[in-house]
Amino acid sequence: MSFKKIAPSVLAADFANLQRDIEMVNNCNADWFHLDVMDGVFVPNISFGMPVIKAMAKHTTKPLDVHLMIVDPDRYIQTFADLGAEVLTVHYEACTHLHRTLQAIKAAGMKAGVALNPHTSVHLLEDIIQDIDLVCIMSVNPGFGGQSFIENTYAKVKTLKNLIQQKGANTLIEIDGGVNDKNAKALCDAGADVLVAGSFIFKSEEPCTTIAHLKEIIS
Ligand code: DX5
Ligand code: ZN
Repeated sequence: MSFKKIAPSVLAADFANLQRDIEMVNNCNADWFHLDVMDGVFVPNISFGMPVIKAMAKHTTKPLDVHLMIVDPDRYIQTFADLGAEVLTVHYEACTHLHRTLQAIKAAGMKAGVALNPHTSVHLLEDIIQDIDLVCIMSVNPGFGGQSFIENTYAKVKTLKNLIQQKGANTLIEIDGGVNDKNAKALCDAGADVLVAGSFIFKSEEPCTTIAHLKEIIS
């Protein structure tokens, strides 16, 4: 039995047919909805915000895994709790007082995630790993879907997995960017627990079959 999860990234869905694509994920073998919020400041792109998530949440039947690519995320912690986020992930690079931010996310009833840009070392989490429910290792530079997977990710996953075990933490490792059927198994073997996939799922002929295929590969 596998506990590894697939989180389709809604960024790659057809926004003109959002309800259809959400229902597809509801009815397939996927585990979470991955929602990418971008502010045009932390990353050079703007995706979708609260009104769209509110509309989506009326239809989703699986946990919402919200990835904030925004500066000063503390301003919106309660807002995302009210929208129904189960996991709220902030970027290490966007938080001056990361410990305080994580406590605020948990106090609002959510699981607290930290995302690392490709250049950010996992060693920087040494003193805080026990407070983190999920680490999202970015395997592309955040801001856009459809980019190529950065190979150094495998080494980061292994180092992070060791750190988690050494500290006796309960942290999940999520991989975000360029995930496909070529790297999914090796990522899970290296220690990943959750794979985010956008383009590979939504741009495929049969997204539901693609999700099932990914789940099969990692189980
Ligand atoms: C990138 C986002 C990802 C993106 C992944 O900034 O965080 O979640 O949607 O898309 P793919 O799977 O197409 O690389
Ligand atoms: Zn993401």
